[in-house]
Amino acid sequence: MSTGEWMILFKVGGPVVGKDFYGREETLETLYKDLVEQGKLGYVVYGPRRIGKTSLLEEFSNTVEKRGSATPVYFDVSSLHPFEIESFHDHLFLKCVEAFKPKREIRARLAEALKGSGDALASLLRSAEVSVGIKDYLQVKIGVKEKKASLQDLIKKSFGIAESLAKETDSRAILIFDEFQMVEDLEKNTIWAIRSIAQDWKNTSIIVCGSEVSLLEQMILPKTAPFFQLLKPCQLGPFDEATAIGMMQEKFTKAGLSFGKDELKEIFNITGGYPYYLQWLGDKIYDSEEKKVSKMVIEGALKAMLAEGDAIFRSSLERLSAGEKDVLIEIGLETEQLSEIAKKTEKPMPNIAKMVERLTEKSYVRKKAPGRYAMIDPMLKKWIAMVYGI
Ligand SMILES: Nc1ncnc2c1ncn2[C@@H]1O[C@H](COP(=O)(O)OP(=O)(O)OP(=O)(O)O)[C@@H](O)[C@H]1O
Ligand SMILES: [Mg+2]
Repeated sequence: MSTGEWMILFKVGGPVVGKDFYGREETLETLYKDLVEQGKLGYVVYGPRRIGKTSLLEEFSNTVEKRGSATPVYFDVSSLHPFEIESFHDHLFLKCVEAFKPKREIRARLAEALKGSGDALASLLRSAEVSVGIKDYLQVKIGVKEKKASLQDLIKKSFGIAESLAKETDSRAILIFDEFQMVEDLEKNTIWAIRSIAQDWKNTSIIVCGSEVSLLEQMILPKTAPFFQLLKPCQLGPFDEATAIGMMQEKFTKAGLSFGKDELKEIFNITGGYPYYLQWLGDKIYDSEEKKVSKMVIEGALKAMLAEGDAIFRSSLERLSAGEKDVLIEIGLETEQLSEIAKKTEKPMPNIAKMVERLTEKSYVRKKAPGRYAMIDPMLKKWIAMVYGI
């Protein structure tokens, strides 16, 4: 029984910002120092699903905006409709232009021009009020339509516009891409093109972010990766104990619930400090309508949460192959030694090793010791124990 008031207290799903945003102070400060103050080129922010990536990016973007020291341009690639490469470039271009707050009528004419109005285009290209960078993009855009220019030419302009506007205004631009791995799906060469453009930036920094950890690791870590030694990695993980407990304490207090230290610690242990699970469990505790957060209340809330999350956990498993899923279930049930998993699943060791390698790449499991693996997500592990355990 969630009330409107409750929604303000615990937010389950969707990004959180402002007073709803907890922790991550050091990460925010590092990004700010490096990108805004020191003008470093950029970061790859990565982490598992629902760890709080979008929240961090939006909070950072708001901070930069508020301090007025640089112009942030936030772009969630997954919000693209239609999902195709030219519209990606148009959107990026428009977002950059808008971030630098152009006059309203220029903005309207730009939108018209990009929709295909030839008149709007021509008048923009003639206008003395429109900056060179903007005209540049439009010209190439016409070129692409007339097949005189290539997509690579367009990339240079869409990724160059922020730099050009920042130079014109003697300021800095921070390009922030969420779900960046989708760009790679749109057009394989885009990432390499970005690399060669970004290398020459003086006034622009870039943050790329995504949930497919392995893909992002491929973008920076290997020597042959496009962003090798160009962007710094920033891995987002769960909250530490102090942050997790601090958040729950504050929210329980606001909700008028009483609680003890042990219970808060118990909540941290159950959720592994994952902000999403902390909020969700908190929501279920409140739903129980008990005034005191006891171990029994927590236990009941956990059961309710696992039941409610059934579809989510199930879909986590459905993203795996049948073989990977079998292996993950064994690891979830704490059969952690490779040889034992092989025995239980009746599959040869080399197969098991391959599956475990893939599960590691996909951030489902991590190596604990040689030949020994453990699940990363504490709640998925609990759900597996509930559904597949005996
Ligand atoms: N800094 C934070 N403070 C409090 N709660 C948070 C924080 N970050 C994330 N959460 C919780 O986690 C949920 C998911 O956050 P968010 O959407 O930012 O994650 P994400 O990593 O972008 O997820 P996805 O992989 O789905 O894109 C939020 O709805 C909220 O419950
Ligand atoms: Mg997100």
